[in-house]
This record gives sequence, C-alpha cells and structure tokens, in this order.
Amino acid sequence: MVLAVSETAPQRQIVQIECGWNPVRVLSERGAVDMAARNARSPAVLVIGGHSRRSEFGEAANHRKRLVVPSSRWNSVLALAAELRRLRPGSVVAVGGGSVLDAAKVACGLAGLPDEPALGDLVNGTIPLRRTIELWQIPTTAGTGSEVTKWSSIWTEDGRKVSVEADALYADVAVLDPALTASMDARLTAATGLDALGHAVESIWSRNHRPETDRLACHALGLIARHLPDAVSGPTARHRTGMSSAALHAGLALSWCRSTAPHALSYPFTGVLGIEHGLAVGLMLLAVLEPTERIAPQRVELAANALRISGSSGSRGIAAFVKDIFSRAGLTARLGGFGVTPEFVDQTVAAAAAQPRFANHPDGLDMDEVRGALLRLV
Ligand SMILES: [Fe+2]
Repeated sequence: MVLAVSETAPQRQIVQIECGWNPVRVLSERGAVDMAARNARSPAVLVIGGHSRRSEFGEAANHRKRLVVPSSRWNSVLALAAELRRLRPGSVVAVGGGSVLDAAKVACGLAGLPDEPALGDLVNGTIPLRRTIELWQIPTTAGTGSEVTKWSSIWTEDGRKVSVEADALYADVAVLDPALTASMDARLTAATGLDALGHAVESIWSRNHRPETDRLACHALGLIARHLPDAVSGPTARHRTGMSSAALHAGLALSWCRSTAPHALSYPFTGVLGIEHGLAVGLMLLAVLEPTERIAPQRVELAANALRISGSSGSRGIAAFVKDIFSRAGLTARLGGFGVTPEFVDQTVAAAAAQPRFANHPDGLDMDEVRGALLRLV
C-alpha cells in the first residue's frame, strides 16, 4: 500500500508506506510537538530554529529544555553537538525547516563521538557518525523531506554546501503536523513546494528508480498538482495537508533514488547568491527538462502525466507548471531576476558537473545544451 496521510483533517495515525529501505517511523498528528515531547525518550530536548515562533510548540515549549540552532552552518552544528554532549538527553525533538532538521541530525550523530571530527571526515565517511540519542523530526515546511532521509546538507563557513550521508542520520520518528506549515508565506510555500516537485521528478528519472519509488513519486506529483498552486495563492488547511503529504512521499522516493542534475546544479546558486534552495531547483529544472527528455523521454513523460498537466505535455508541461508557481508567488522564473550573470553561469556549470549527484542522472546529458538553456534564463 502506498500512503496515506488524510488530505482532510489528519488524525493520529501511523502512515503505512511500502518502503522497505527506509527505517523512519512516520506519524501524522495535530499537536505533534507536544505529542513528541510526551512520548520521546526522557529527558527530551527541543531543537528549534532561530526564527521559530513559541506558539508553534504548545505546552512543550514551557516544559522542555530548548536549544536554538540558527542555521546548518558547520559551526552551528558543532555548537549544538557540544550542548547535547553536555546535557546528555534521552531524545531530541527537532522542529523546523530543512536546515534545522539537517543540523539536528548531524549534531545528534556527533554527540555520540568522543572527539570533534573535521567536516571533511564526515563527508568522505572516514569517521562514521554515532547516534545514541533518540531522534524525532517534525518539519514546519513542506518540501525538504529531510525528516525521512539519511542526508544532511551542511554549509561550510566559506559558503559551500556539502552533503553528509550516514545511516545514523535516519531519524527514529518523523511526525507530520500540516498545521505547523500554515505560517509559510507565498514565497516560502512556492520554494519548498518546488523542492518537493524536484525530488519527485528527479526520483522518476534517477538511474536508481524502481517501481516502488515511481509509485511514491507519482503520488507526490498528483498531490502537488492538486495542492501546490492554491497552497501558494490561497492556502487552506486541505492544501497544507496535501503538500505535507506530497513532501513526505517525494522524500521517501528520493531517499532511495538520490537527487540528480537539477539539485547538483543548484548548489552554487544557493551557496553563493543566496537563492532559496527550492527556487534554485525550480530554475535548474527549467534548464534540464528538455535535454533530459531527449535522453529519457519515457521518464519525463511519466512525471508529466503524474502532474496531470492539461494543454501541454512532457517537459513543456512540467516547465509550465514550474513557471506558474513562480508567478503565483510574485516571482519571475528567470535567473536574471535573482542577480545571476552569464559569467556566473559559465563559472558554475563546469564546477557543478563534478558534483557526485550528477552520477545519478540518466546517461548522456548534453551540458552545452544545459548551459545554453541556463544562459537563456538569465
Ligand atoms: Fe532538495
């Protein structure tokens, strides 16, 4: 069975998903933070972001030790790990967007190590993370899927994004509470929704795709088609719930398939120019869709059909959907609007092609064509 979080009022439920490779237990419940704080191994510590509002956390905020992690920069992660080593909690309940969840995952793994390793040793796996703290993850956005993946994106102090991968980064429990995503404005809803769309589309054309991941990713795209446009333009609780479920399903598919060229290309645009991750992924998709359709037409068609675009098909249909989401958020889907210059495109395309995520893309991607498409978007 694939899924299901109810698209209407979510009751507490364990989400049954046929997903043998992913060990995270997924629950859906209103009042997730209180529930997690009550049920997590004692003593529980809340980990939240710098911009979190106290009202999001209900009673738990009054009774639990709270640690704030301002970002997923390496120094912030090290500081959080040091606090966890000092406090020795039984569990961490991380509540926030992707960077808070990513930072908490790595910090919990670091807290189990006797010494502070270099980031490079984590990235290349020479020092394995060790987590003894029970970890609960509660997303307050709908897109990153970090709550069900074994990767964390960590930013170096000089603005590079690196990915840490370890089984220890799989959370014990993820709890969806779509009400926590209600405070997202149109731009953040668009950005995180496009991130989920990228995870689903890239899972479908990833070299690692398999029938189970296709089902998860297509289900996510159906939800995105139904809910993302209105979640940006005029959100209701139903749209928020639909997008939370979409992000979960796309994240589960990605946790097997791994991301591909659009994500690999997006990193410098975020790291150097500060373009939100999901918006950068959306812009990269616009450049990569057509060249990918030439080498993997059936995979692109499968994704386009799952989005149920009317009027245009294949890569054009997906591109039209992405542009519509930008426009609903009051944004133009052009790199120039985000301060990107042709020189920046030239400098970064070659460097991005060396990213390991490129290896998951279907064979034969024409990088000259991708570069040309990016330059036309400037
Ligand atoms: Fe992403």
